[in-house]
Amino acid sequence: MDKKKRIFSGMQPSGELTLGNYLGALKNWIGLQDEYECMYPVMDMHAITVRQVPADLRKRSLDVLMQYIACGIDPEKSLLFFQSHVPQHAELMWVLSCNTQMGELSRMTQFKEKSQKHADNINAGLFTYPVLMAADILLYQADVVPVGNDQLQHLEITRDIAQRFNHHYGDTFTIPEAYTGKAGSRVMSLQTPENKMSKSDPNPNGFISLLDSYDDIIRKFKRAVTDSGSEIKASPDKPGVTNLLSIYCAVTGKTLKEAEEEFDGKGYGDFKLAVGETVACELKAVREKYEYLAKNKDYVEKIYKESAEIAKKIAEHTMRKVRKKVGFTAI
Ligand code: TYM
Repeated sequence: MDKKKRIFSGMQPSGELTLGNYLGALKNWIGLQDEYECMYPVMDMHAITVRQVPADLRKRSLDVLMQYIACGIDPEKSLLFFQSHVPQHAELMWVLSCNTQMGELSRMTQFKEKSQKHADNINAGLFTYPVLMAADILLYQADVVPVGNDQLQHLEITRDIAQRFNHHYGDTFTIPEAYTGKAGSRVMSLQTPENKMSKSDPNPNGFISLLDSYDDIIRKFKRAVTDSGSEIKASPDKPGVTNLLSIYCAVTGKTLKEAEEEFDGKGYGDFKLAVGETVACELKAVREKYEYLAKNKDYVEKIYKESAEIAKKIAEHTMRKVRKKVGFTAI
C-alpha cells in the first residue's frame, strides 16, 4: 500500500476561535483525517509576535487544542500538540531565516497589516513570522496544507524558501501544496462584511466564537448587516448577503445556486434566522464536547504529550538531514 501523504496545519491561540477558523480551516481538516496522515498543532510560538498575558496564553492554547477535538479532530487519527513542545521548529526557523530575503518578507500583507495595528511593537518576530510558518510545514515534509485564503501568501513564500533551499543544498524538503475548501475560505465579519471575520475584532457582534451560546449565535446573525435591496443573491455589491450565503453553503454543503433557490422570495429576517439556526445547531455539539473535555484535562494532557513525542521524532529526522546539508558538524 502507498504511504499516506502528510497534512499539516495549525491555528494561533491569539483569541477565541471563530466561525471563520472553523469554516476556513477546521471543518476541512476533519474530512482529511482518513485519507492523510494529519498533524494539527496549536501555534503558540506564533502568538507571542503580539503581546500576550502569559497566563491567558497558556489557558487559551489548551482551549484551542480542546476545540480542535471538540470540532471532530480525532486524536486516534491525528497528532495534536503545542508547537513550543517541539524545539526543532525554532531550530529550523534559524536555518531558513538565513535563506530568506528581507525583501520577500517585507512584501507580506499580514506583516503590513499587523505592523499598522501594533505600531508600538513592530518586533523582529512579526517580520520573520512567515519563516517560522515555513519551518513548521517543512519540518514535517508536509504534502498538503489546508488553510483559509488569508494564509495563501505565507504558503507561497514557504514554497519559495523550500525550492531555494533544495536548489542550493540538494533535495531536502517536500514542496507543500495549499488546500482551500470550496466554500468558507474567506468568512467575513457580520458587522463589516468588507473585513475578514477575526478573533481580534473588538466588536463581538462581528464574529461568532465557536463557544458562543445558541442564543448568542442567533442574536448575532439577526443583527448581521445586510445590503440595500431585498433579493437574496450573491453579488459583489451585496457583501453582507453574499457572506451569509457562503456561510450557509459551507455549513450545509449546499451549492450557492441551491441556497439562492431555497431563499428565493424570502425576506432578510427569515434568511438571517435560518443561517443563524444552521450555525447554532452545528456548534451546539462542539460546545458540549468542549465542556466535557474541559472536565477531563488528564485525557487532553495525555494526547498532547504523546503527540509531541511522535512529532519530535519526525522533526529530528528532518533536522539531522538539514544540519548535515548546511555543514554543521555531526554530534
Ligand atoms: P490563524 O490562527 O489566523 O487562522 C487559523 C486558520 O483559520 C483560517 N481563517 C479563516 N478562514 C476563513 N475565513 C476567515 N475569516 C478566517 N480567519 C482565519 C486561516 O486561514 C487559517 O487557516 N499563520 C497561521 C497559523 C500557522 C500555520 C502554520 C497554518 C502557523 N504555522 C503552518 C498552517 C501551517 C495563522 O495565523 O492562522
